[in-house]
Amino acid sequence: MNRILVTGGAGFLGSHLCDRLIADGADVLCVDNFYTGNKANIAPLMGNPYFELMRHDVTFPLYAEVDQIFNLACPASPVHYQFDPVQTTKTNVHGAINMLGLAKRLKARILQASTSEVYGDPEVHPQTEDYWGRVNPIGIRSCYDEGKRCAETLFFDYHRQHQVDIKVVRIFNTYGPRMHPNDGRVVSNFIVQALKGEDITIYGDGQQTRSFCYVDDLIDGLVRMMNSQSSLTGPVNMGNPTEMTMLELAENVLRLTASKARLVFKPLPQDDPKQRQPDIAMAKSQLGWEPKVALVDGLKETIAYFKKIVLV
Ligand SMILES: NC(=O)c1ccc[n+]([C@@H]2O[C@H](COP(=O)([O-])OP(=O)(O)OC[C@H]3O[C@@H](n4cnc5c(N)ncnc54)[C@H](O)[C@@H]3O)[C@@H](O)[C@H]2O)c1
Repeated sequence: MNRILVTGGAGFLGSHLCDRLIADGADVLCVDNFYTGNKANIAPLMGNPYFELMRHDVTFPLYAEVDQIFNLACPASPVHYQFDPVQTTKTNVHGAINMLGLAKRLKARILQASTSEVYGDPEVHPQTEDYWGRVNPIGIRSCYDEGKRCAETLFFDYHRQHQVDIKVVRIFNTYGPRMHPNDGRVVSNFIVQALKGEDITIYGDGQQTRSFCYVDDLIDGLVRMMNSQSSLTGPVNMGNPTEMTMLELAENVLRLTASKARLVFKPLPQDDPKQRQPDIAMAKSQLGWEPKVALVDGLKETIAYFKKIVLV
């Protein structure tokens, strides 16, 4: 039986990953300090003898016997990662060092949940993995962007210097059930505002674009990457290349929630990228992966989840 460690396993993506790994027959150790994670996310797994939960902060060393490590621990939304930026950098950098040290000792394979934010506010579009990015090193997003960039550096140095078996995935915007209702991410914001009948906040003129990947698709990509041949280290982009403006997203959410909420426009936050879209040619050719869930179907599942937690 595969023993798999998931750091950040009580978070949005981590909990879906734990569900998937347990369903696949793995023995899962979920490690989380509950900074943004939530016990409710993993409650359905708690009675399972092959699921174990450990409260632990990855900025401290961890000793456990496992075969694979998925390193997801890190607050992912700007409101959360900017709340304690020093801790965010520590989680990214010290967390990566601790998990890579563990992987080295155990000869375990380790996958890093990196991010499209390593591309910053990109000059090339769509972004391919060989693009080095345009990141402000001293801005309010830097604790996350540069923290993730440094984590990638550490992964590749542990690979070159210590032959650690690494996998790096650059995740683009992902949405679905178990997103945090108040994390300021656009999909959850729009849905919660629409369900409550509050004004829908659009930053800028709403013409900036994003692409959104449904969580089940993304998790499938992470598992495929973890189980790919050793020579494929990445970084590999994963996300949905179908791009839309924030205005289009808002209109979809209003229609699917049958909400009468109004759109209101506010200034763009500092360093907010205007456009971001993954080039997923590498994931397609190397892993046979591409997103399958249509936005409307994913939004319906997400809206159903938020109805349960927001309208109580
Ligand atoms: N959701 C996305 O769209 C997206 C996009 C790009 C990258 N990612 C990456 O994927 C990972 C998971 O993101 P998410 O959306 O599930 O976010 P999340 O905030 O829901 O999950 C992160 C989890 O990590 C835990 N955590 C934070 N600091 C920790 C620490 N020091 N020690 C132990 N646990 C800690 C949190 O409590 C939480 O459970 C993150 O690394 C994030 O950077 C996510």
